[in-house]
Amino acid sequence: MTTGTPATPAAAPPPDDDRIHLVVLYGGRSAEHDVSCTSAAHVLRAADPARYRITPIAISRDGRWALDAASQALLESGAELPARLEPSGPTLPTGAFVTDPGDAVPSGAGAGGTTVVVPLLHGPLGEDGTVQGMLELADLPYVGSGVLSSALAMDKAMAKQVLGAAGFPQCRHRAVRASDLTPGLPGALAAELGLPLFVKPANMGSSIGVTKAKTPEEVRDAIDLALTYDEWVVVEEAVVGREIEVAVLGNLEPRASVPGEIVPGAEFYDYADKYVDDGSQALVPAPLAEGEVAEVQRLAVDVFRALRCEGMARVDFFLESPGRGFLCNEVNTIPGFTPISMYPKLWLASGMSYEGLVDELVRLAIERHARRRRTTTR
Ligand SMILES: Nc1ncnc2c1ncn2[C@@H]1O[C@H](COP(=O)(O)OP(=O)(O)O)[C@@H](O)[C@H]1O
Ligand SMILES: [Mg+2]
Repeated sequence: MTTGTPATPAAAPPPDDDRIHLVVLYGGRSAEHDVSCTSAAHVLRAADPARYRITPIAISRDGRWALDAASQALLESGAELPARLEPSGPTLPTGAFVTDPGDAVPSGAGAGGTTVVVPLLHGPLGEDGTVQGMLELADLPYVGSGVLSSALAMDKAMAKQVLGAAGFPQCRHRAVRASDLTPGLPGALAAELGLPLFVKPANMGSSIGVTKAKTPEEVRDAIDLALTYDEWVVVEEAVVGREIEVAVLGNLEPRASVPGEIVPGAEFYDYADKYVDDGSQALVPAPLAEGEVAEVQRLAVDVFRALRCEGMARVDFFLESPGRGFLCNEVNTIPGFTPISMYPKLWLASGMSYEGLVDELVRLAIERHARRRRTTTR
């Protein structure tokens, strides 16, 4: 929670401080708020203080912005951060980057420094292009994908439509909106796609609102639940297969990490299995044949390009074998960075350090911003 007191501008950085100023946005208004607080702690721990001056900005569940002065002080003193950041601190004007970047970020860059924003916000109002749009207006470089790609990847219904049109293999599915819901719809979906069915909100993550429904009645309840998160819902056949994830990093020439595998501890990889029970297992690298590794890496990079991702994304697949092989499930443009998260783990297993990963993401943000300044009409 924010304290309600306005932020007093911190002392200006010395003019000879040419470190990059990283503004890390975390928390946020989505149901994935807690995941973001843990992701932020681990990214900040990995950012080299000799290279970066860091301003953590906490966004509360109700959308209020605060300067996380406590974490900033810990970082400046070289003390260790807690494993999960607590979003609190003096209030900042929401999104004030757009109107007045200097005031919004009290301890701004030194004379020589560049500001790069790291939106470590998962889910709606963070990963879905909204914050990215604000950062475009503010003309600031930021880590990760731009507006279009963020919005597309966040919306499972639209991502499937674009990936389907581009010919990528996916499971059979239907997108449903609240106004489509008739008494006969659950039965019709069950007849068309078979039971059980997976029902999920189009715009969410961390398995929030996802149900495996085994009867038409359960399908109806699952759609009702998913509709509490989003107006659009995706209903999918249940794939019997392995869950394979690939981390992709880069702008114009993205590269793929070694693939990893999730072995869910529960009936599927649900929220508790991801973050609470520790019941799931991550196999890094995934035990796959050489040809399968090459195929899923190529698919991951092609999917990344097809959705016009930049910077980073984790591309998730099912492997149905025997059967249809790799089926693309979803693309996460701001993947988790918690200690159990696949994205950093996959890069560590591919020979990068956590610090090196942060450096590369920042470099890519600066490259993209400079390139778009040159190549797009403003
Ligand atoms: N069509 C499906 N077939 C089988 N399992 C699925 C299907 N869709 C989702 N799941 C299970 O539910 C989990 C969460 O679904 P996912 O689409 O990845 O949503 P989220 O964005 O919340 O991670 C997956 O990791 C998987 O375990
Ligand atoms: Mg998922």
